Parts: sequence; C-alpha cells; structure tokens
Amino acid sequence: MKKQLITSALPYVNGLPHLGHLVGCLLPADVYARYQRQRGAEVLFVCGTDEHGTPSEVGAAKEGMDVEAYCKKYHDLHVAMYAGFNLSFDYFGRTSSDQNKEITYRIFHGLEANGLIEEKVTQQVYSPDDNRYLPDSYVMGTCPHCGYDKAKGDQCENCTKVLDPTDLINPRSVLSGSSNIEIRETKHLFLNLPKLEKELEQWIETKKGVWPDIAYSIAKKWLKEGLRERGITRDLKWGFAVPRAGFENKVFYVWFDAPIGYIGITKQWADERPDERRWEDWWMNADAVRHTEFMGKDNIPYHTITFPATLRGTREGWTEVSFLKGMNYLNFAGGKFSKSAHRGIFLDDALAEFPADYWRYWLMANAPESNDTNFTFDSFAMIVNKDLNDVLGNFINRVIKMTVANFGAEVPPTGPMTDAERELYQSLDTLIADYTKYMDGLEFRKAMSVLREIWVSGNNYIARMEPWKVVKTDRAYAGTILRTALNLIRLFAQLSAPVMPETAARMLAIIGEPATFVWPTEKAAVYLDGVPAGRSFTAAEPLFQKIPAERIEALKVQYKETEA
Ligand code: 2FM
Ligand code: ZN
Repeated sequence: MKKQLITSALPYVNGLPHLGHLVGCLLPADVYARYQRQRGAEVLFVCGTDEHGTPSEVGAAKEGMDVEAYCKKYHDLHVAMYAGFNLSFDYFGRTSSDQNKEITYRIFHGLEANGLIEEKVTQQVYSPDDNRYLPDSYVMGTCPHCGYDKAKGDQCENCTKVLDPTDLINPRSVLSGSSNIEIRETKHLFLNLPKLEKELEQWIETKKGVWPDIAYSIAKKWLKEGLRERGITRDLKWGFAVPRAGFENKVFYVWFDAPIGYIGITKQWADERPDERRWEDWWMNADAVRHTEFMGKDNIPYHTITFPATLRGTREGWTEVSFLKGMNYLNFAGGKFSKSAHRGIFLDDALAEFPADYWRYWLMANAPESNDTNFTFDSFAMIVNKDLNDVLGNFINRVIKMTVANFGAEVPPTGPMTDAERELYQSLDTLIADYTKYMDGLEFRKAMSVLREIWVSGNNYIARMEPWKVVKTDRAYAGTILRTALNLIRLFAQLSAPVMPETAARMLAIIGEPATFVWPTEKAAVYLDGVPAGRSFTAAEPLFQKIPAERIEALKVQYKETEA
C-alpha cells in the first residue's frame, strides 16, 4: 500500500479564513486524511500559512506591525480556528520557515544548473510616494476598453479584459492613491516554461478522465495558449532573498516558494522528531507515495503547470501530484464571500454559532465539486434539522430509549434472526461498498448522500420492525432488533467519523466503545455482531439540536444574507 501524502492549499496568512476556504481545500483534505487513516494507510497530512507577498507587507503596515510579528499573529489565529474545526493536520507549518528557505534554494539552484533560469529586464511600476514598486494589482486606473474607473493593473473587473498596468488611463497607487507613478526598468529572474512544455503536456494528458474535469481542463487551457516564461522574483523586502549577485534588493515571488512550502513544511515536521522521521521518505521516494492535493479552482494553474515544472526542472525526482482535487467556489447567497467587505461567514463566527460537525457535514454534503454552490441559512438549517437531527439523531435516541425502557441500560441478548436482518445486512453491504468507492474516488457529495442512505436504512429497520410492539409478544426477538440497532450505532459512528469526528466519538461513547476509528471491512452480518450482549451503555444527551425558524431568520439578518 502506498504512503498517502495529503496536502491542502496553503491559505494566505493575511486576513482570516471563511467557509469558502474551508470547503475549497482544508476540509475535504481533512475528511480524506481521516478516511485514509481509518483504512490503515500511512498518512502525512500537511498544510500551513502562505506568508510572503505584498498583501503581508501591506497588512502589516496597516496594523503598524513589523511583517514577521504580523505573520506570526495571523498564523496563530489560523491555527486556533482550524483546531476548532478539528482539522487533523500532522503538521501545520509556515512558508516563511528556515526549512522552506533551504528547500527553495535547493530547487532554485537545481533549476539554475539545468539552464532553466533566465535574467530579463522588465518594466515595473514604481511609486515614489509609497517608496516602492507596485505589483500589477496595486495599480488602479481607467480601463481603456470599457472606461471603468476602478480597473486594476492586471485585469478589469468590469469587462474581464486582461491588462498591463501601462494600459491604464490615469494610473494611481492603490496604497496611497498617488498618481505620481513611474515606469522603471528592473531585472528579474524567469523560469523557462517553454523548455518544459512538451513533457508537461504529455504528463497532463495521462490525467484525462483520471483527475476531476476542472483540473484537467484548466491545465489544458493553459497549455493550449502556449506557455510563457514566468517571473519568479519580485521587488519586495518581505520574502526569501534571491541568492544571485545583482538581485540583492529582490525576493522570490510568493507563488515560487508557496507550493515548495508543502516540502518545507514536511521538513519542519520531520525536524521536530529527527529520529523517527525523514522528509525525503515523502518527497524523494515518488514510487512509494501517492500525493493528493486539494485546492480551489484559482490555484489549479499553479499546481498543474508552474509547480510541476519547477520540480521537474531540477531532475531530482521529487514526488509529483498523483491526484488533484480541484473545487469550485462556495458563494454566499448568490454573491462572493469577501474578505475586504467582511461579507460571508468567517470561521470564528461559524464556530460561535454552531458545533463544527454541523458545518463539516453541510459543507461536504454540498461541496462545490462540479459547480459553484450557494450557502444559505435555509439550506443549512434544513440539512441539520432533517439529516442530522431527524434521521441520525432520532435513530439513536429512539434505540437507546426503547432499550432502556424494556431491557435496562444493557445491550440485550440476541435471539433468533429473521429475513428482516438478512435483508438489512445485504443492503448495508451494497451501501457501504458504494460509500467506500466514492470516498476512494474523492466524490464527496455522492459519498455523503450514500452515508445519509445508510443512516436512513437504520431508521427504516426500526420503523418496520416496531420493537416496541414486538416486545409484548416476543421478547427474545425484540432483543435481537435492539441489539442489531445498537450495533448499527457503532457502524454509523465509524462511517461518519471522517466527516463528523466529534459526533462519531460521542456515538461510540454511548455504546461503550473507545474513540478508536477503524473502517468497517467485514460483511455487515459479522460487523453488526461486534457489540456484545450484556455491555452497559449510557443514555446521552441528544446528539443534535434543531435550529428553530426564528433563529434562521435572525441569522439571515445578522450575516446580511438577503443583501448579499
Ligand atoms: O490561494 C491561496 O490562498 C494561496 N495562498 C494558495 C497557495 S497553495 C500552495 F501553493 F502554497
Ligand atoms: Zn474594462
């Protein structure tokens, strides 16, 4: 069995993450990592904050902090929120670490040695009033195509035309508003992508029908347009210094060292336990590792073209991405989540409103896999109230109550089995095989809908067998029904654990099982014999709370859902 290397795109450190970030990469990666661990795979799940680039410099200046302290402050906030959502990283690191610097330099020198790095003179916008070069998106002006007066130097948001800052009429600095703008010539380093184009194309072709369509088609689109040389340095202070004479005032571009961060973060992890762990086992051992990457669609070009080219160009045999799970966007009531306008639901607010598992389940059941998806409080409440409370929660409450009322707080002995149990086992075998297939294939919406069907089958069994009636005439068979149902709680807990780990642990606690998650691989007939008769269990608080209609309306107002 291959080692499972699982990476989630590294969120920018500036600003705070919202539900869109969670569902776009962090959460599906966590669900998959938990699933793989449950199956007994050797898993390394790494993530971290992406810390370089202009936004960190600008953010720090706004808060009057130095950039390092600013990044540390926000890194710690990310860590706290992800802990609140039970994201089970083996390591959550930082792209600004010494380890990442070391790997970045190693890769850069490898590319240099193979003749893939070139110097070129470029024109760059300089703002004397800001005392700095401005990246394209920090220049604003009037669009020459449509006349929109807030067009940015990389693209006009109004007509979507791609621009150069020099195209803008009346250009000004986004930072100071100053229109005292100069164009200066400055030297930069470029990665020669055209030299690698052929082999990238051949490699991407092998992913057709294997990766989600969105990943393959975005890569194809870039290749079709023809690859150009990509700048890998910038005129900034914050970042890794460029180790070459004449480049003393420049740093590597954030998108150069960010994906290398997956490796740097693995080294951070390994360095903390040098006796047991080797980062090379994961990154220099390609045949033994399956690397699954998770990301939002805007990240796909970097992970299908520029990062693979960066690794390949060194000819060192780095582990490549085996499967790329690209996600569409989660919208908020039809509009975009917006950091700057603080519109949408940020992770700290989400956790203050409801338990993590409510969000985790809603997000995975509605994951934007083939299309953009809308978050609405109506949909959220409906799923929590119906799937979680009415289907799963009520099943457990009823089984526990009926058993306590008729047999006391102990698992009753099993009497003779009937066709009803045999049918239940059969249908569960099929459903569990489907569920496993979808989890293996990273088709999360389908997986969640089968999981729900599995819960429903438990409810149907109880409703059909009516143990509350049977107990009056055939106590032994009523015991069989209830013991089967108590065993279903164990099965449901194990199957729900990747998406709802806290709830799963509570379910196991109810029936006296330790919170150890192991994927059920036996046939249902065997597995559902696992909880022994005579074991005492604890009647617990209900697992879920319904969200009442007034609360939904209040949330819509509070989070401005209707205005979005
Ligand atoms: O889009 C983003 O949030 C980027 N910070 C993702 C980087 S992923 C990896 F390359 F680091
Ligand atoms: Zn325009």
